[in-house]
Amino acid sequence: MSELLKMVDESLAYIRERSALKPELALVLGSGLGPLADKIEGACSIPYGEIPHFLRSTAPGHKGRLILGTLAGKTVLCMQGRFHYYEGYSQKDITYPIRVMARLGIKNLILTNACGGLRREFSPGDLMLITDHINFTGMNPLIGENEGDFGPRFPDMSKVYDPELRALCLGLAANLGVPLREGVYVGYSGPSFETPAEIRLFQGWGAGAVGMSTVAEAIVARHCGVRVLGLSCITNLAAGILDQPISSDEVIAAADAAGERFGRLLAELAGRM
Ligand code: HPA
Repeated sequence: MSELLKMVDESLAYIRERSALKPELALVLGSGLGPLADKIEGACSIPYGEIPHFLRSTAPGHKGRLILGTLAGKTVLCMQGRFHYYEGYSQKDITYPIRVMARLGIKNLILTNACGGLRREFSPGDLMLITDHINFTGMNPLIGENEGDFGPRFPDMSKVYDPELRALCLGLAANLGVPLREGVYVGYSGPSFETPAEIRLFQGWGAGAVGMSTVAEAIVARHCGVRVLGLSCITNLAAGILDQPISSDEVIAAADAAGERFGRLLAELAGRM
């Protein structure tokens, strides 16, 4: 048994001690989106610090709890707050919870985030369905010896964001009357925001949004064979599009303002996935 698998099983043993639920759907709630976890009923809430081998979440707007319960009648596991590369952890470390999810039996994973919009027609508060990503972090969470208990050395990334789940999401958003953009997400290491020159580069690549999370988690989920849906909340237009600085307070406030709409869509999705 690999060292990683041993650690994952120790994390899992603790989680199972706390809750007997067997979720097949997991959600990761990004910056400012944590309050969506309040919709989860019968919640068993476990601070990351109590789970063997889990990191501590240090990012603003990230509570740092694992929640098991039901959302729209579906048993779910939810990460209220995630880990980021910019916190100083390795990409392998920040994606450790995804390995735990896979071993727990999670089949579908919804990754949410707050991000900067790359198109002028986007507005703060818009929701965007991620169609694909560009890993601009210069790093990959699978570097190092392959974790063969979880997946292959060279996993395919042709359809990271599951086409069936995307179609389902588009249909549900239309039924709910929740406008949903679509676009490619660029993963950036942060913690500085991007420069206008970088943003022009990403625009030239045809991307729709840029943010500091999601990409590593999506790669590891695919390595484990977990299906992924990615949903972004555009909290600001990216650097240089408007002649104004970007602040983390603005990001959290915009994500907060979109929370009700985002929550309705997530609950609907949970019920149907
Ligand atoms: N860039 C990167 N990450 C972000 C942004 C941004 O403009 N807004 C929210 N997260």
